[in-house]
Amino acid sequence: MLTLEKRKGYLSDVVLDPSLDLFAEINRLKKKKNAVILAHYYQDADIQDIADYIGDSLGLSQQAAATDADIIVFAGVHFMAETAKILSPKKKVLLPDLNAGCSLADSCPPEKFGEFKKKYAGHTVISYVNCSAEIKAMTDIVCTSTNAEKIIESLPVDEKIIFAPDKNLGAYLKKKTGRDMVLWDGSCMVHEIFSLEKIVKLKEEHTGAKLLAHPECDAALLSIADYIGSTTGILNYSKKSSDKVFIVATEAGIIHQMHKASPDKTFIPAPPNNSCACNDCPHMKLNTLEKLYICLEHEQPEIILPDQLIEKAKKPIERMLEISAKYGL
Ligand code: 13P
Ligand code: SF4
Repeated sequence: MLTLEKRKGYLSDVVLDPSLDLFAEINRLKKKKNAVILAHYYQDADIQDIADYIGDSLGLSQQAAATDADIIVFAGVHFMAETAKILSPKKKVLLPDLNAGCSLADSCPPEKFGEFKKKYAGHTVISYVNCSAEIKAMTDIVCTSTNAEKIIESLPVDEKIIFAPDKNLGAYLKKKTGRDMVLWDGSCMVHEIFSLEKIVKLKEEHTGAKLLAHPECDAALLSIADYIGSTTGILNYSKKSSDKVFIVATEAGIIHQMHKASPDKTFIPAPPNNSCACNDCPHMKLNTLEKLYICLEHEQPEIILPDQLIEKAKKPIERMLEISAKYGL
């Protein structure tokens, strides 16, 4: 019998025939089971290439809410698959590896956040989508990096706001909107370890290169960026720009789509402050094409959430989707 080993997070006892054409097999299973594959830009190139939809956190939530598929295979991390389940509770939502977590979501444990909220009674809670379903259930409006500014600005100017869990995105938004928000002290391990020194050196070596940064990066890095935005924002900027060389300060998986859209341009992954040349998210990269095939074939691991939690967490996500639609996002 196949067992889902909790520690490993996937069906580790399935032995795959090495001659199997995984692309053909995944496509066959998708049709047979009426399944859809939603992938984040940080996934491996082959997962992006087999996906039905590739996008940022907002786009992925919108797709999860709208799909008429029976099964959603979420090629991303746990909080993203949870969000899909909350928005489409009747559908089976699969995640190729249950251990695909997120350092940012982990930096905000529900119990501690509950105590934090008590200290700031009367505040409206805006939570970045990179948090657990339990945190979403304690939130008034969820946001992503694409819509955060608009969501903050949709509230009255004197509204007291808690912004969680990303302190870097929060600080960036405080500056952009002029709102004095209380910030939870969380961060993303991938966006915090870019080396400012190495990036400055790269900019000197490649005259005219534009630095594109995700707002999860720290303030020092953002202060020298030519463009700041979500993964979709970064991709779109590189497509429209007449510049030819870009230093990309976000997870390197996005470069696959940037190359595809603009094969004549050069994309340099921003280096971290260790010996690696680019910055991979170790959680995102737990998903592989093999695990994706196994999870679609055996319909495991599945995201299961209590109905009550789904009910509570759904409201702030739906509020986010309503505000986004109002602004055409
Ligand atoms: P976006 O793709 O929404 O910009 O989010 C980036 C990220 O860190 C997802 O984990
Ligand atoms: Fe979480 Fe950062 Fe990885 Fe995104 S890149 S999933 S925020 S750890």
